[in-house]
Amino acid sequence: MARILITSAIPYINGIKHLGNLVGSQLPADLYARYMRQRGHEVLFLCATDEHGTPAELAAAKTGEPVAEFCARMHAVQADIAAGFRLSFDKFGRSSSQQNHRLTQHFAAMLDKAGLISEVSEKQVFSVTDNRFLPDRYIEGTCPNCGYDKARGDQCENCTKQLDPTDLINPRSAISGSTELEVRETKHLYLRQSQMRGKLTEWIESKADWPILTTSIARKWLDDGDGLQDRGITRDLDWGVPVQKGDAPWPGMEGKVFYVWFDAPIEYIACAAEWAEEKGLDDAAWQRWWRTGHGAQDVRYVQFMGKDNVPFHTLSFPTTIMGANTIAGEDWKLVDYIKAFNYLNYDGGQFSTSQGRGIFMDQALSILPADYWRWWLLSHAPESSDAEFTWENFQASINKDLADVLGNFVSRVTKFCAAKFTTEVPKSGPMTEAENRLMVDLTTRIRAYEGFMEAIEVRKAAAELRAIWVLANEYLQATAPWTAVKTDPARAATIIALSLNLIRVYAVLSRPFIPDAAEALLAALHTGDDSWPDDIVAALTTLPQGHAFSVPEVTFAKITDDQRADWQIRFAGKRD
Ligand code: 2FM
Ligand code: ZN
Repeated sequence: MARILITSAIPYINGIKHLGNLVGSQLPADLYARYMRQRGHEVLFLCATDEHGTPAELAAAKTGEPVAEFCARMHAVQADIAAGFRLSFDKFGRSSSQQNHRLTQHFAAMLDKAGLISEVSEKQVFSVTDNRFLPDRYIEGTCPNCGYDKARGDQCENCTKQLDPTDLINPRSAISGSTELEVRETKHLYLRQSQMRGKLTEWIESKADWPILTTSIARKWLDDGDGLQDRGITRDLDWGVPVQKGDAPWPGMEGKVFYVWFDAPIEYIACAAEWAEEKGLDDAAWQRWWRTGHGAQDVRYVQFMGKDNVPFHTLSFPTTIMGANTIAGEDWKLVDYIKAFNYLNYDGGQFSTSQGRGIFMDQALSILPADYWRWWLLSHAPESSDAEFTWENFQASINKDLADVLGNFVSRVTKFCAAKFTTEVPKSGPMTEAENRLMVDLTTRIRAYEGFMEAIEVRKAAAELRAIWVLANEYLQATAPWTAVKTDPARAATIIALSLNLIRVYAVLSRPFIPDAAEALLAALHTGDDSWPDDIVAALTTLPQGHAFSVPEVTFAKITDDQRADWQIRFAGKRD
């Protein structure tokens, strides 16, 4: 039994995520966590909300809530939707937690001790009325390019031109509207990532088994002269982790907080501490996942994320970890495997949170069960290239894979048995060539499926699972119990007894992809036996003669053309 730590990129707090976000991190992470748990491994699966930064402050300002209240409310909303998608986090934490405050300040102190932090003086806009420095986004004015009068100091929303606050005509504070702005000198902390180029390169080069998508992005940044620039890790905001050296103040940094991308990955660690606290466990309980001198030397740590997140996870966060680990007594675990994803597009364009384009997680659950989405998204995961969601493809895949292949097998077998025998597993007789071939094919395919799941080859695993479902239909077609029952009922009984057992095997194998349907099938079979089919012959005799079952209600209803057309129109526009 192995110990596997799994984290999914932590979603920003401001707003509900779309299906592209879901398939790029949380959902495949859940697939892997569920599979590994089912195979008997000890898993700690963590995710959280990413709550700091200007977007969170601005989103809160828009709703008129204090930012802490906004974040608490949105965290609950996101947690609820995650539960709706059956994301099986051991803990869904918050980057604003006390644990993350403490750890972030601790890491900053260790990095400072390691000589990896520099203090840099910069000129920045200060609002006299607000008595604070303003981040670029907090300065508004007229765009010099297009004349739009609500352009932000970092970018004009109207013409998309990238701006500097000093480019704006008639600049004013976005907080108070005051024009009493001055350029003043202020200090910021920089993480000296460039010092780590050698170590990071060596580390990435040692990861021959990582997906090319991950290593190619990391290499591009390492090779590019500017890619590994030192990064500012402090900001002038109210909301965030106050800049401190551990418990001690950091002279000159009063009123500043750490940059959201500095504290967000540290939340992976803090989340384990939040998990331990929730469970009433001590620090040792989470440290055995995160500290190599405290038990984590045996842990395999796997991260899931979209490709835009790769630089932060292959350069910045490892700098934090490796840097801290140069200090005596620090022994934080580095990631062992990074699974990155390309983008999922929506119907000829991009999913976009800011433009409200595509299907958002809450909307998806309001029209169809989680399993439908899980199956389509995972079987079309954007692994080797970007993928595209279209309603036609969605309808066709669901109707074929779930309804025609899996659902139809379940329904034919259970209904036939109830009609021709009883709602109990009938008596099984001698196996024939057909059964032997089925078992050989199943064994080959199940081993292949396991291999793909271990390797986190999501699409290939889905295709293999589907092929496993298809075997059952082919078997039924070849053995034709509906014909056999007329001349040789004992033979028909043998076929059906095996097929009922096969439904249990399918529920077990399919559970990481479609957990609700799997539960429903096990419930219909009146069994709690979810043992993995290591040995298919044994697995196909698990439900003995006389074992009662219920004919399940429709396992997967088909998506009709009317529904599809209706949703196509409903989700064509922008979400408000
Ligand atoms: O891209 C995003 O949604 C970020 N909130 C991901 C952060 S992942 C990690 F660093 F915590
Ligand atoms: Zn403009």
